[in-house]
Amino acid sequence: MVLAIFEISPRPWYADKMRVIIYTGKGGVGKTSIAAATALRTAKLGHRTIVMSTDSAHSLGDSLEVPLSGDIQNIAPNLDAIEIDVLKEMETRWKEIEEYLSSFMRSQGLEGITAKEMAILPGMELMSALFYIWDFDRNDSYDVVIMDTAPTAETLRLLSFPDVSQWYMDRLSKLLKRILKLARFAMGRMSDIPLPDADFVDSMEMIGDRMMNVREILQDMERTSIRLVINPEKMVINETKRTYTYMSLYGLNVEALMVNRILPQDDASMCYFQEKMPEQEGYMKTITECFYPLKFYYSNQMPTEMLGVERLEVLADMLFADEDPITNHSKEKPMEFKQEGDMDVMSLRLPFSQKSDVQLFRKSKENLIVQVGSHKRNITLPLTLTHSKVVSAELEGERLLIRFKRTEDNGI
Ligand SMILES: Nc1ncnc2c1ncn2[C@@H]1O[C@H](COP(=O)(O)OP(=O)(O)OP(=O)(O)O)[C@@H](O)[C@H]1O
Ligand SMILES: [Mg+2]
Repeated sequence: MVLAIFEISPRPWYADKMRVIIYTGKGGVGKTSIAAATALRTAKLGHRTIVMSTDSAHSLGDSLEVPLSGDIQNIAPNLDAIEIDVLKEMETRWKEIEEYLSSFMRSQGLEGITAKEMAILPGMELMSALFYIWDFDRNDSYDVVIMDTAPTAETLRLLSFPDVSQWYMDRLSKLLKRILKLARFAMGRMSDIPLPDADFVDSMEMIGDRMMNVREILQDMERTSIRLVINPEKMVINETKRTYTYMSLYGLNVEALMVNRILPQDDASMCYFQEKMPEQEGYMKTITECFYPLKFYYSNQMPTEMLGVERLEVLADMLFADEDPITNHSKEKPMEFKQEGDMDVMSLRLPFSQKSDVQLFRKSKENLIVQVGSHKRNITLPLTLTHSKVVSAELEGERLLIRFKRTEDNGI
């Protein structure tokens, strides 16, 4: 099925490097809707676009009102879409691994259970999506890749690639142990365990090599940005702050914040939402304190669900107005972590800073308030820094460098 939706503009001349936009955020905040709306807009502007859902509870097809599958499908001019299907990926991309798992299970007398089902590990959708990115880049298939991701910290960690093949091996070995336990329980015995063959080993190496290539794309600030989707609600803000810190800790470029479901101020809806307005104002202020200087995009709470092209276009209008959604607003990482001897250094981009006083307050183990002149920033510290002492804070150009020393006790 192809959406009959719009007239497209000619392909822009500047689309020379594939752009990757990754949406993430807490459950239900509007990631899928915003990913779909962005894709419709970039396609309309003439960018060859693909939108990929890596959330196993797929709803991208529902949002676009077009049935999607684990195969890439053209749904509109310039617009392809896929809902990554791990079972299908197991049959193709992870075939050697599946074969080894099958032989492993057979050796333990577990014929009935399909290796495919057992071998699905958390994060495999995202990993498969990263393989696709590698493919698309090599073949110049698209100008823009838009990803809608599941919001779990563990899978997002994959984006940082400390060592993805190691990550996979660890999980695989846990899985093998689980199968052994199951075999002992079901059959009361343990048989010889088959050794992985050369194909399996090659395929693990291949995963490692490819991931190194994808890493280059994801760490390239000109191409890849993480966009956090948020709602003006307390719990959502807290969790998103944490995600922001961890994405930064992993060296990723958090570029923008999509503030969705803002209660509108217009007269008609005012009565209905009036009570909630002061609370929302407070949350909007907190959002500015916590996420400045990211680029902010705003969209209102609509009276109906964001389903179908027409409504998604309204969402895209609210978010982007006349702007091309592929515009990259981040030239420097907003938050970075480095090691300097035995010190941990947190570097924050604070473009508003003049050479004014810097004050730090530790609200709790993981919450640091930075006050520079009249500007306040509220930062969540990563776990590694919760038991550390701030030893200095100084402005260097547009960046504030905060040095931490790890201690047994905590506090500032
Ligand atoms: N601005 C909005 N106004 C009204 N409804 C919205 C808005 N944004 C999203 N929705 C609706 O909220 C629900 C959740 O949105 P969506 O599926 O995009 O969120 P999500 O973050 O992808 O959720 P999940 O974490 O479950 O994948 C959907 O029914 C969607 O239509
Ligand atoms: Mg979703």
